[in-house]
Amino acid sequence: MRSMSRIAFIGSLLFASTQALTVPSTAPSTAAVVDPSLLSVSLEFFAFPGYTELPATANCLANLATLRGAQPAIRIGGTTQDRATFVPSLNVAVNYTVASPADAPDSLTYGPPFIQLAAQLKGQVTLGLNRQLNNQSASLAAAVLAKKDMTNLFAFELGNEPEFYASNSPIIVAGGQGWSQDVDAASEKSWFETFSASVGNVFQGAVTLSWSAGGLLTRIGTDGVALLKSLSQHSYPQSACGGAATNLPNLMSHSGIVSYVSQYKSGASAAHAAGIKYFLGETNSATCGGGGISPTFGAALWIVDYVLQGAVIGVDRLYFHQGTISNCAYCFWGQSSIFTPYYGAAFVSEFLGTDGVKVAMLDDGTSAIGAYAVFNAAGTPVRLLFINTNYYDGTGTRSSTATAFTGLSTGLQTIHAKRMTAPAATSQVDEGAAVTIGGSSSFTSACARTGTQTTESVAVSGGAASVSLQASEALIVFL
Ligand SMILES: *[C@@H]1O[C@H](CO)[C@@H](O)[C@H](O)[C@H]1NC(C)=O
Ligand SMILES: *[C@@H]1O[C@H](CO)[C@@H](O)[C@H](O)[C@H]1NC(C)=O
Repeated sequence: MRSMSRIAFIGSLLFASTQALTVPSTAPSTAAVVDPSLLSVSLEFFAFPGYTELPATANCLANLATLRGAQPAIRIGGTTQDRATFVPSLNVAVNYTVASPADAPDSLTYGPPFIQLAAQLKGQVTLGLNRQLNNQSASLAAAVLAKKDMTNLFAFELGNEPEFYASNSPIIVAGGQGWSQDVDAASEKSWFETFSASVGNVFQGAVTLSWSAGGLLTRIGTDGVALLKSLSQHSYPQSACGGAATNLPNLMSHSGIVSYVSQYKSGASAAHAAGIKYFLGETNSATCGGGGISPTFGAALWIVDYVLQGAVIGVDRLYFHQGTISNCAYCFWGQSSIFTPYYGAAFVSEFLGTDGVKVAMLDDGTSAIGAYAVFNAAGTPVRLLFINTNYYDGTGTRSSTATAFTGLSTGLQTIHAKRMTAPAATSQVDEGAAVTIGGSSSFTSACARTGTQTTESVAVSGGAASVSLQASEALIVFL
């Protein structure tokens, strides 16, 4: 009896460290349809013209477009959209002064050249306009020009994160009834109605962080929802505001991501039931520009898992926010550098590929190991992604986990895999760390792809195979 129970104990330990997964031979009914621009980008309003002048901007977006087969969508907005006033006679894109180049302006004007720059972007564009200052004629003039000149226009936002408007904001004072989600919803609806007479029903509603975006739908009724193309929920898993502490192991935890993202499922379902898209319309790792965790390899791993988990629960797009150029911990690129989070954006885009149409999670979401399959239009699984979110900080022994999977065609003998890795979860390319995809450091400072990526062979026997991942790395398996 004694030796029997000991054997059983060892057996369960082995089982616990090696979860067995089955790859469905065809997309299950639970697989989620993936928007071609699932991974999209949000550019802070005042910084947008500056971004258009960086070679990295077009190149970084083009790389993602090549990998995914569709251009990322762009949202232009953020806190400074509600500080900006459109001036039709201004002959420059933006006009503002700041004490230091690292600052965001407290007030700015923008002119028609701003709209012309937006009109040149590839991919669908959502333009954030000001509601907070209650200058409706100025925002409407911008919308009318944008509607006329932007063939790439997807939607307009009217206001950004209204729950944080100061109590003396002109829109609040003018309304004279205080401010709540109910009052804001009535204000938004009234602005949508006024604008729609000139530009049509092309609005992105909510644009809220702490208020539930789904909560807008019931408040504005079906006549209000008819004016919308999409709902925007802002999402930051952590806060770096006022020097708040951030936590990288928590950010990158697979089970933590599954749990965090599940809060958006009801909003996505409500939006889809109403016939509109549901976006995490501004998102990144930590609020207030990101914290110490944001520029790390762990954040790149977080992006991979977070994007896929979003798709699985019904989020149509995630717009990763890019703030003040070169003063932005979570940014994908800056003045002359490509930052570590971009590697995650590229890796998940490669996994989704040009032929990826549906995605499913293969694991049960309770461990540190995530596994996803992407399916083509015929419903055939074309790639798998494994992610080991156990945290490795670069000290001590780096653990390794083997994950077995079955369900491949029995005739297969070898498949190939591409690994994204780094010395540790804390690694940063801007500090010289070797963050690699397929064994290669992959991007120049202008975001041109460089180096030769290689794949690894994985043996298959009887439709079964196993892959091994160290703590804090990810792997794409090509079927
Ligand atoms: C920009 O704003 C400043 C300060 O308001 C003003 O003096 C200047 O003329 C403006 N520039 C342009 C090009 O309009
Ligand atoms: C609204 O914006 C216009 C510029 O488009 C400006 O001339 C006007 O003074 C603004 N109105 C208010 C009340 O600030």
